[in-house]
Amino acid sequence: MVIDEGLRRVLQGARRVVALTGAGISAESGVPTFREAQDGVWDQVDPEEVATPEAFRRNPRRVWAWYAHRRQLAQQVAPNAAHRALAEWGRSLDWLQVVTQNVDGLHQRAGSGHVVELHGNIHRDRVFDGQLAADVDDLELPRFPETGAVLRPDVVWFGEQLPEGAIEQALAAVRSADLMLSVGTSAMVQPAASLPLEALERDIPVVEINAEPTPLTPVASWHLPGSAGELLPPLVRSAASG
Ligand code: OAD
Repeated sequence: MVIDEGLRRVLQGARRVVALTGAGISAESGVPTFREAQDGVWDQVDPEEVATPEAFRRNPRRVWAWYAHRRQLAQQVAPNAAHRALAEWGRSLDWLQVVTQNVDGLHQRAGSGHVVELHGNIHRDRVFDGQLAADVDDLELPRFPETGAVLRPDVVWFGEQLPEGAIEQALAAVRSADLMLSVGTSAMVQPAASLPLEALERDIPVVEINAEPTPLTPVASWHLPGSAGELLPPLVRSAASG
């Protein structure tokens, strides 16, 4: 990878870093991404059938079956070199805030201490606060033991609000950073996609690492094309070598 002199200076001068991450950072761990041709998750299954409150209302067993499979996958995989590089950089900086759209928990398993999960966490459940359709067979659904309330995975579905305070925390992190990374995200899903733009508006440099160009690429301060697992470790080494 070519790290130009300007980027090296920015990396070595950075003390407060925010890293926005997406499915691409977990791809090398074996977690499928969402929007890629052929094996992207949303090519295999219609999000309207598994990732909306309405889908759960109509067919909670189908939704649970899909999430049980994804939860199991997330348990079986391990953090990769990109997760580890961010965790390591966090230990040598004043502060590194990860803001992730991923629900797999791999940043925390790699040792990152400050992680905002914009889309929840697939390993947790919470109470479903809606009404199941009248004809649903609701036997054998996971339930909250104390009250018997039906549980759902604690992830954000299409059309839902982000977890309370998550975007505010992410924005505060961006505004107080002196460098932002955008790693392995298609930069197409709001509000996450607006975070690097907020940084750029405040003259905070944004380094994008992505296998492909994205809508962020033309405006990013630097775009490093390639895989996160290959690019992040040398980037972090370069930052530390100043
Ligand atoms: P996407 O699947 O939309 O995009 C993954 C991005 O990672 C693409 O831009 C790829 O080019 C890039 N990529 C793939 N492998 C990579 C690698 N090894 N190194 C670097 N980049 C790589 O995933 P997200 O942007 O995370 O939301 O998607 C955002 C949200 O859309 C998800 O959180 C999910 C989905 O619908 C919900 O489920 C609410």
